[in-house]
Amino acid sequence: MRAGKCVTWGSPHQLELGNMPDPEPGEGQVEITVKACGVNFADLLLISGRYQVRPDLPFVPGMEVAGRITRLGQGVDSFRVGDKVAAYVKYGGYADKVVAPAAQVIRIAESIPASEAAAFPLSYGSAELALERAGVSAGDIVVIGGAAGAVGSACIELAKQRDASVVACVSDSAKEKIARDCGADFFVSSRSRHLSDEIQQQAPDGVDVIIDPVGGGFFEESLRVLRYGGRVVVLGFASGKIPSLRLNQLLVKHQSALGSSFGLTCAKNPQVIADKWPRLAGMLEAGQIRPRVSHTRPFTDLPAALQMLKDRKVAGRIVLT
Ligand SMILES: NC(=O)c1ccc[n+]([C@@H]2O[C@H](COP(=O)([O-])OP(=O)(O)OC[C@H]3O[C@@H](n4cnc5c(N)ncnc54)[C@H](OP(=O)(O)O)[C@@H]3O)[C@@H](O)[C@H]2O)c1
Repeated sequence: MRAGKCVTWGSPHQLELGNMPDPEPGEGQVEITVKACGVNFADLLLISGRYQVRPDLPFVPGMEVAGRITRLGQGVDSFRVGDKVAAYVKYGGYADKVVAPAAQVIRIAESIPASEAAAFPLSYGSAELALERAGVSAGDIVVIGGAAGAVGSACIELAKQRDASVVACVSDSAKEKIARDCGADFFVSSRSRHLSDEIQQQAPDGVDVIIDPVGGGFFEESLRVLRYGGRVVVLGFASGKIPSLRLNQLLVKHQSALGSSFGLTCAKNPQVIADKWPRLAGMLEAGQIRPRVSHTRPFTDLPAALQMLKDRKVAGRIVLT
């Protein structure tokens, strides 16, 4: 099968496109013939060797796939060959075939294009987990960093489903358009030198929740406008900067800081994800949520697609087919 291989830690252009043997589905796993693979920021971290896990080299990155099941491993009775599915895999997605634990696979309605299905399981799973961690409910004001990105845009849609108000932090007008399309109510610029003032203008009494996949200045600035009892959920550090938190702030404002990890939850507590995905897949089928796929590229464009993400040039999602 064709695959995009990481043979040395580094940048997207060091990936090698080539052939390798098909994977074998083990016990409890299924083989998926991949129709589309979502391009994720975490793949950049993975191939640079800066992710929380470091697979042995060489390996095939790619975490979010859609396709059809072509083989079942021993003991799998929840799927059939031919089922249309999406899956979260730790890696292996940028290939013609991938194997995934059945618990990380979700059936997808025939009406959903493969490109949208491939931008669904990790992004919406992570977003739902983060909003649940923060206990987002009707009337909350939620500020979302990297709001036109994979996790950010999913967070907007799912926060709106919970009847929250959303302040979307984005860097340009194309990204603002994506955030608006997802349902965000207010917009602030991540390039602003006075981000906390901008947020405060939209939310004079402060915000209830911060969803942060960016870190750095976004974390520091948005924390200033987190109100009494507010919650901040840390998802990642797309800015490359891991901020520090002075604990006295939590005390004096009765606030909570929480981490949320979709990948680790899949590994440690797969039932949490198994309980969420069917409802999210139902919302996808009903058109209540929709991954904003702005670029669909052939599989061979893998290095260029990852580079676009690295350069912050993707407003919405980029998917390889
Ligand atoms: N904890 C979890 O469960 C979980 C799950 C999935 C992903 N993540 C993490 O969340 C982060 C975002 O992932 P994603 O897939 O949403 O990424 P993405 O689609 O690339 O979106 C990230 C956003 O961050 C913003 N950003 C700010 N500074 C940046 C910089 N220096 N370089 C690149 N982007 C920058 C960009 O928005 P603007 O240009 O508009 O500012 C961009 O749209 C990553 O660190 C990823 O590992 C965590």
